[in-house]
Amino acid sequence: RAPSPFSGAADTDYAEEEARKKSQQAFQNVRQQFGKTYLPLIHGEYVQTQEIIDSLNPSNFSEVIGKVGLISVEQAQQAMQAAKAAFPSWRKTPVTQRAGILRKAANLMEQRRAELSAWIVLEVGKPVREADAEVSEAIDFCRYYAEEMERLDKGYNYDVSGETNRYIYQPRGIAVVISPWNFPLAIATGMTVAALVAGNCTLLKPAETSSVIAAKLTEILVEAGIPKGVFQYVPGKGSQVGAYLVSHPDTHMIVFTGSQEVGCKIYAEAATLKPLQRHMKRVIAEMGGKNTIIVDESADLDQAVVGVVQSAFGYSGQKCSACSRVVVVEPIYDTFVQRFVEATKSLNIGAAELPSTTVGPVIDANARDRIREYIEKGKAEAKVALELPAPDNGYFIGPVIFKDVSPNAIIAQQEIFGPVVAVIKAKNFQQALSIANDTNYALTGGLYSRTPSHIQKAQEEFEVGNLYINRTITGAIVARQPFGGFKLSGVGSKAGGPDYLLQFLEPRTVTENI
Ligand code: NAD
Ligand code: ALA
Repeated sequence: RAPSPFSGAADTDYAEEEARKKSQQAFQNVRQQFGKTYLPLIHGEYVQTQEIIDSLNPSNFSEVIGKVGLISVEQAQQAMQAAKAAFPSWRKTPVTQRAGILRKAANLMEQRRAELSAWIVLEVGKPVREADAEVSEAIDFCRYYAEEMERLDKGYNYDVSGETNRYIYQPRGIAVVISPWNFPLAIATGMTVAALVAGNCTLLKPAETSSVIAAKLTEILVEAGIPKGVFQYVPGKGSQVGAYLVSHPDTHMIVFTGSQEVGCKIYAEAATLKPLQRHMKRVIAEMGGKNTIIVDESADLDQAVVGVVQSAFGYSGQKCSACSRVVVVEPIYDTFVQRFVEATKSLNIGAAELPSTTVGPVIDANARDRIREYIEKGKAEAKVALELPAPDNGYFIGPVIFKDVSPNAIIAQQEIFGPVVAVIKAKNFQQALSIANDTNYALTGGLYSRTPSHIQKAQEEFEVGNLYINRTITGAIVARQPFGGFKLSGVGSKAGGPDYLLQFLEPRTVTENI
């Protein structure tokens, strides 16, 4: 098959002095805007709210990044009415025009790249290079889904003599997008622009801890020309406003990325028919992971150690794709553990803003406390191979490596979402594969091996949505590694892949006897 012709945005090359200066300037500018209030966008207007929360810098929680107005249930209902009113005209807006808005948004993001990266660093504590890569991903989602919708808009022609048969796609209606904080720009953008370009009116409810970045996305979509009511920014409490929008009879689809617990609740709630509801709701739910890297006796250990460190501790392990289990075969187990521990000791833990930082903070106090509880549980069921100290002026947790972990231990089965790794010993490759597959999740997985039969077997039997061989298991690129899992990692087609937009569309067949 021909390779994908889609070419993604290039990340910033921080080796260039000019790029570093631009980044420093962006941090200064963003800091000058600290403490500003961001209001919801309903029916094209920024509206006042009764409740306002502070969004803090996780690297230094005495800094208020911004204040965010949270909508009430009544305002959520107003947003729903505005979306319904805007839908008849948006669904008829030509796809070229809708795609044009996405392309303009992508160009604006490119112009504001350094500033958007700085907001990501400061609001969710993601180190600079990873924040910059996230901006590239958001840009790619806009450009790729614009192209994809133009492809799908052509439909299919099954004409026969005396009869035309046209297979076409129409939008579903109102899409409620519920996003997580860990990819506050890329995932919120991807889900939102996919819904919009397909012709759906879209309400974005971001995670409470990343609502300032979602407000920046809102500014960009407005500047790109999104009509009023078509896109609305509705920050609010998940359990209140999120739950209300999910259960609303006028919601046609829920596009969710977040925890398995919330995803399952949404899935169940969406299945219940409400009075006056005349359709079944479609749910896309991208959920958690408990991702394993297998290292066999033929692996290049230099490569494996670096890959595991990066996959496990990048963004402090707060990626659904992060490695949290390493299964190592017996003959190289001790060597691997020793080298993994030594390599992890070289990581720099500190404020996400510092160029030297490799491990920043975790998102908030709840996350820090939850991860600490898991570390205590781990100490009761396995041996600590390494526990690095961390500063206490932010929500920092030093990387922790547990060794000799039982495959069924709590820390080997539950998603911790922090810089904590369980190393498990396997007798041989076949047993390693069985251990890797024995979790509730199926998101990412990796294998370091130079044995062709093992690589072949992993391709056939490693039960994950994204399998990576001899490389890191995070950092999927749009239209190159379409991303998403199955089992309890979620339902839906892969983001950044050729089937994704189909979920936002209702196919129809129109036959005419001529
Ligand atoms: P979360 O489930 O706590 O929150 C996600 C969103 O759901 C937030 O906007 C929240 O306000 C909202 N929400 C909470 N309760 C709700 C309810 N009852 N009804 C409707 N909405 C509700 O997740 P999080 O902490 O923001 O993100 C971390 C999780 O996301 C991890 O489990 C991670 O694995 C997962 N994740 C998955 C992917 C993927 O592609 N599979 C990508 C990123 C993150
Ligand atoms: N898409 C993100 C990654 O691949 C979650 O790391």
